[in-house]
Amino acid sequence: MKPSNAINQYLKEQASLDLLRFITCGSVDDGKSTLIGRMLYESQMIFDDQVASLKNDSQKHGTQGEDIDFALLVDGLSAEREQGITIDVAYRFFSSSKRKFIVADTPGHEQYTRNMATGASTADLAILLIDARHGIVTQTKRHSFIVSLLGIKNIVLAINKMDLVNYDEKIFRKIENEYKSFSQNLKFQNVQSIPISALKGDNVYQQSKLMKWFKEKTLFHFLETVKIKSQNSLNFIFPVQQVNRPHLNFRGYSGTVASGNVKLGEEIITIPSQQKAKIKEIYIGEKSIKSASFKDSITLTLNKEIDISRGDVLCKKDSLIETADQFNINMIWMAEEKCFAGRSYIAKTHNISTSIKILEIKKLYNVNTLKHQPSKELQLNDVAEVTISLNKNIPYKDYQDNKFLGSMILVDPLTNRTMGAGMINFALRRAQNLHLQSLSINKELREKINGHKGQVLWLTGLSGSGKSTIANALEKQLYAEGKKTYILDGDNIRHGLNRDLGFTDKDRVENIRRVAEVAKLMCDAGLIVITAFISPFRSEREMARSLFQKKEFQEIYISTPLKIVEKRDPKGLYKKARKGQIPNFTGINSPYEKPLNPELELDTSKSSISESVKKLLKIIS
Ligand code: ADX
Repeated sequence: MKPSNAINQYLKEQASLDLLRFITCGSVDDGKSTLIGRMLYESQMIFDDQVASLKNDSQKHGTQGEDIDFALLVDGLSAEREQGITIDVAYRFFSSSKRKFIVADTPGHEQYTRNMATGASTADLAILLIDARHGIVTQTKRHSFIVSLLGIKNIVLAINKMDLVNYDEKIFRKIENEYKSFSQNLKFQNVQSIPISALKGDNVYQQSKLMKWFKEKTLFHFLETVKIKSQNSLNFIFPVQQVNRPHLNFRGYSGTVASGNVKLGEEIITIPSQQKAKIKEIYIGEKSIKSASFKDSITLTLNKEIDISRGDVLCKKDSLIETADQFNINMIWMAEEKCFAGRSYIAKTHNISTSIKILEIKKLYNVNTLKHQPSKELQLNDVAEVTISLNKNIPYKDYQDNKFLGSMILVDPLTNRTMGAGMINFALRRAQNLHLQSLSINKELREKINGHKGQVLWLTGLSGSGKSTIANALEKQLYAEGKKTYILDGDNIRHGLNRDLGFTDKDRVENIRRVAEVAKLMCDAGLIVITAFISPFRSEREMARSLFQKKEFQEIYISTPLKIVEKRDPKGLYKKARKGQIPNFTGINSPYEKPLNPELELDTSKSSISESVKKLLKIIS
């Protein structure tokens, strides 16, 4: 066979093999990198020049004397070598004659929970590495919990370093039994324990001669043959990623099959519009095909024109996809900034992007003990059960049924950074029995009779910056002109509606959420609403803005500097705060995030109140 033919033949064979994605959990000390390195080496997925450089490196940096240090193959980055830890998620590809493999290698320490979640989200199986000398440790429990949370059903308990415990079967069985009873409540389907020595190679690829008592498959052969429940056997689900309309005669729907399969001529239903049609054509790229299955990226056409848009889902009659806008989810928080109930983000689900509000943090899991406790906020790497509300109904599945339709990421609307990952537990039914009532007298009619538009002037700035004074002077002027107005002022609202709230970050988030909702009602009543709240967080001010139409909401930054307001100190609060008598005082020991693009900026140390009022009158429509 010519070399090019041999390569083609090889590629063809490879393409037909199925793929197992797995994650390895454990730390460097457990021998994780050594294990992956050995698997790559023994399956001959590393090239000779790499072996040469590995031998060289092993003598320089290695910890194994003259032997090859397989960990060096995996801990590729020199920074990691020096620190002796693995950072970030590294994906490695290798294959045997039976299967292709992608292994996600993630760091094991608690501060890397988010990396682990990233690696585990697409995995079919997890290898949990255990040091035979130590047995099940806290880290094993944490990894097991996260793996189960992410819906991985197949577990290999690789009990490593058997060479250091004299290849003792009793030790192996004890750990195996302990793990079985520990993992009973996690939703695993298949837990396989294998005694190995990654360093010496026992039961990794070759059957160990020193553990004849273990008759089952070696780790590698287990990975080659383990049966994974295929999403192919489930019902057809196709979330539409793009409506494809290159010319008038073609209307196709592109996306990736999220489960099941579909054939030409089969009837599908659209979600949420519940219309029926038959499959007319299926394409992979330009090529027309007769059927498609799980994970295929295809374009479909239908036998009749129906209105379908990005984010809709096509399924067969028996797929039973529902829609909802409020959910109970498990969430892994991935950002340095804390998460509070009441805060809004952007949720990105399958092909849908919509705003999301955290309704309630129900419980925070202690990932090390699997117990839970109440919590008012979430920090980096926290895992919690929370309830959320989306701005629109989305087609969904519970995460454990379908990862693609059951997951979402939360994104910061200002910076576009990923803040968290959510997995749907179930939809909250309470929203489904509520319907917005359409009323005969609407905002337009009220605005007509008032003679001006309903709108909000959102004043933000430090305590003592002049918000209330300006609001008051402005309202007097507007009243004189016969306008309908109302002031919502921090100190006043906190005497009534928000009497139950203090000044922690969480309470300020809730303070502004309620005020924004009240301002919305008042705006709907056709009033000119002037709000005077410190409103120190950008995120809540943006949330408030998002409740209104474009020109209805204007952010006014009262930018009088801290030095000046502290000197004024009209209520004597700065003095108290400096003495440590007020915790969380804005500007002293609690942050104020300046507006980035306010509609107007006023500094009361530079211009008089009447000048500020004049400027404000100009921007009122
Ligand atoms: S906000 O941060 O939640 O927007 P809000 O405007 O309602 O605050 O209330 C601010 C007013 O509460 C201040 O003008 C001040 O009189 C009073 N106050 C009492 N404690 C604090 C505090 N820790 N930080 C800021 N303001 C406080």
